[in-house]
Amino acid sequence: MKIISAIIKPFKLDDVREAIAEVGVDGLTVSEVKGFGRQKGHTELYRGAEYQVDFLPKVKLEIATKAENVDRIIEAISSAAYTGKIGDGKIFVYDLSNVVRIRTGEVDAEAI
Ligand SMILES: Nc1ncnc2c1ncn2[C@@H]1O[C@H](COP(=O)(O)OP(=O)(O)OP(=O)(O)O)[C@@H](O)[C@H]1O
Ligand SMILES: [Mg+2]
Repeated sequence: MKIISAIIKPFKLDDVREAIAEVGVDGLTVSEVKGFGRQKGHTELYRGAEYQVDFLPKVKLEIATKAENVDRIIEAISSAAYTGKIGDGKIFVYDLSNVVRIRTGEVDAEAI
């Protein structure tokens, strides 16, 4: 099992949600986050205005999934989140050791 953590531009959230629904994602956590990449936030535009601060608003998606689905989900996120401009975001993948579905007591792959 893996966790896919994707940092994307906030206005791309709906497009990305639609794209990953088509590749069979059963659950998703979304957080509003702030961050910077290689440009350190200085030269990137957000809603047409240049931000004067180092941290830019981003959306973070976290998806727990079976390892076999990871490549499809990454492809769906990458395509849907792409603009070709700086700040399109990044995708990180982690190993996931345990999952518990609280209501049923199921664990691991059955719990996802
Ligand atoms: N090395 C990193 N560690 C943790 N978070 C990161 C890292 N790089 C980027 N991020 C997160 O991803 C967001 C988007 O990064 P961004 O797409 O600007 O990366 P980049 O490397 O600068 O690529 P680009 O040149 O396309 O802008 C950042 O605001 C930050 O939240
Ligand atoms: Mg950047």
